[in-house]
Amino acid sequence: MIELVGVNKTFTTKDLNVEACKDVNLKIEDGDIFGIIGFSGAGKSTLVRCINLLERPTSGKVLIDGVDITQLKEAELRKIRKKIGMIFQHFNLMRSRTVYQNIAYPLKGSKLTKAQIDKKVKDLLELVGLSEKLNAYPSELSGGQKQRVAIARALANDPKVLLCDEATSALDPQTTSSILKLLKEVNQKLGITIVLITHEMAVIKEICNRVAVMELGKVVETGNILDIFSHPKAQMTIDFINSTNPITKIYELIDNGAEIVRLHKGQRLLKLTYGAEETKEALISQLSKKYDVVCNIVFGNVEVIQQAALGSLIVMLEGSEDAMRKAEAELKHYNIEVEVLKCWNN
Ligand SMILES: Nc1ncnc2c1ncn2[C@@H]1O[C@H](COP(=O)(O)OP(=O)(O)OP(=O)(O)O)[C@@H](O)[C@H]1O
Ligand SMILES: [Mg+2]
Repeated sequence: MIELVGVNKTFTTKDLNVEACKDVNLKIEDGDIFGIIGFSGAGKSTLVRCINLLERPTSGKVLIDGVDITQLKEAELRKIRKKIGMIFQHFNLMRSRTVYQNIAYPLKGSKLTKAQIDKKVKDLLELVGLSEKLNAYPSELSGGQKQRVAIARALANDPKVLLCDEATSALDPQTTSSILKLLKEVNQKLGITIVLITHEMAVIKEICNRVAVMELGKVVETGNILDIFSHPKAQMTIDFINSTNPITKIYELIDNGAEIVRLHKGQRLLKLTYGAEETKEALISQLSKKYDVVCNIVFGNVEVIQQAALGSLIVMLEGSEDAMRKAEAELKHYNIEVEVLKCWNN
């Protein structure tokens, strides 16, 4: 387990002090794929670099399996660092070495024989799906392939933890997906804990089980991703989630007076949001029968997060005032969040 306790990091430059991390407290459990999201400058890289002490915190503790590594001597720290692999946005491969040599590099000076190193490198190449590229140079590879080599290299010392700093930010969406799939495999097959920095909620949604949201050096919210997506608290988290949810398009449509959201007499436009436990589309269709209202779905979005569905629906409700009020009450009774977006006449 990785535990950050009251971690502060202040950079002191000639004319100003930058508080890159402010009183950060985090627990990352073994086997987690832990996401850290925030805008540029939020302090994500600094925070992650504090985990392997590439940056030394100005104050606070970094506990790895209960040991405060800020107190360790250099030799002991080197041993721990070997168990923490790291990959970066721009891959950081050695250009003058082949794929094979790049992956074998961290094993230099290890106790392994040449034959053992050879087997290890080839096994890693197979894991990342690049067996046929062992003699290629980085310049002959695509971005996704370079990141695969970087992952293999980071795994050479059998780390327990893999830190990924914007590992997919330089890649197109499809390649991003394939790299995320590989990271998930690394997590599940090898039992490696992954800490993943990103500025995209879509990346968090795809593979993380927990997430911390950072803003101006602080962790403003942290939790399991299903809770965070279904009940975000901090405004920053809400903004990140909205940035990936097509349902927010509705606000633009309303502002532009689009035809699709134009109301007629007796109509009302609602946004319904339901969580994992309340996936009850049948309920919505039954409303019409029960309360004499017409309920038309304008559009919707369902996210599947950790095998649970989180849905949002934009619906047009039509009926008498009283019937609509009752229908809305029924929805709320079933824990469906109801937001009235627009009413006839106002
Ligand atoms: N070595 C340094 N010296 C001085 N200031 C630094 C140093 N490293 C980072 N900072 C500052 O600390 C703050 C946090 O930087 P950091 O790189 O951790 O942010 P980030 O969230 O990773 O941003 P990005 O998404 O752009 O990578 C920034 O204001 C940055 O300018
Ligand atoms: Mg960064």
